[in-house]
Amino acid sequence: MIRLRRLRASAALRELAAETHTDVKKLIYPVFVTFGEGGRQEVPSMPGVYRYAADGLASLAEEVFAAGIAGIMLFGIPEHKDEAGSGAYDREGPVPRAIRFLKQYFAEKGRSFLLIADICLCEYTSHGHCGVTGEGSIDNDRSLPLYAKAALTAAEAGADMVAPSSMADGAVGAIRAALDGAGYTSLPVMGYSAKFASAFYGPFRDAADSSPQFGDRKGYQMDPRNGREAMLELDADEKEGADILMVKPALAYLDLVSRARARTCRPLAVYNVSGEYAMVKAAAQAGWLDEKKTVAEIMTAFFRAGADIVITYHALDYAAWLREGEV
Ligand code: PBG
Repeated sequence: MIRLRRLRASAALRELAAETHTDVKKLIYPVFVTFGEGGRQEVPSMPGVYRYAADGLASLAEEVFAAGIAGIMLFGIPEHKDEAGSGAYDREGPVPRAIRFLKQYFAEKGRSFLLIADICLCEYTSHGHCGVTGEGSIDNDRSLPLYAKAALTAAEAGADMVAPSSMADGAVGAIRAALDGAGYTSLPVMGYSAKFASAFYGPFRDAADSSPQFGDRKGYQMDPRNGREAMLELDADEKEGADILMVKPALAYLDLVSRARARTCRPLAVYNVSGEYAMVKAAAQAGWLDEKKTVAEIMTAFFRAGADIVITYHALDYAAWLREGEV
């Protein structure tokens, strides 16, 4: 008889036979920063996740410092929105301000820590779409220079990486060219390469106040039915010079993470999105799931599927549980 149970008989044997390891140094925590004062305010559909105002940044800095995670990905909620999303390239906007503050904080602590700027227009446009509008649709090519401008603004503030999330064709290439042209040749780009038009982004849109005011995002984000096309998107970002590729959302798309892992030699990230976080939180609050064990199992699944990097709202909690030996 083939007795696969033999290696499951004791904790020591299970450890020895374990194939997958999770690591806080591979986690990135997404953070919402907003204008004005007001400390921090919890996002109702994402318990434990906050929007940080300028005077809340010190508490954020302390938390992420203590966690030992790799870095944070910043999303901005501006005071004013307009048709062109001009807040996305405002030097005094919430994201550049937060980057300058956190850069200084970590420099004083002598710790290397990554500040990654999400590059998109949807948080900044009055219509909530990820690019500027053309004749009844989103104008891909007219949006490209705006993403490039937003990336340069983040670079000037001191971002360590930029991550274009609009699913515009050519965004990675346009940003790479603009960064190189301004001398930021060493600044890495993480492409949101295969990003799907997903219902799992609902809570994020509450947090960022970025729901489209008309239509939906199906004209630019991917159709969940398409796996081969996801491979073409990954190839395109790689060719345009993306240093890191991403699949998003995560849980319902792990087949694509596994296919992407076999296809590219680039580091691969997954984005464990807001709706995936909210589902776990809601069930845990109802007493229906053990939050710590559930999150640990989910994180393990991402790494087992082939992700090198996990972007997750659970990062701070998970890091603390690992540190305390609770998971
Ligand atoms: C912006 C952006 C979105 C997310 C990350 N960047 C929202 C969207 O495309 O509607 C979603 C992240 C999440 O749900 O956690 N383009």
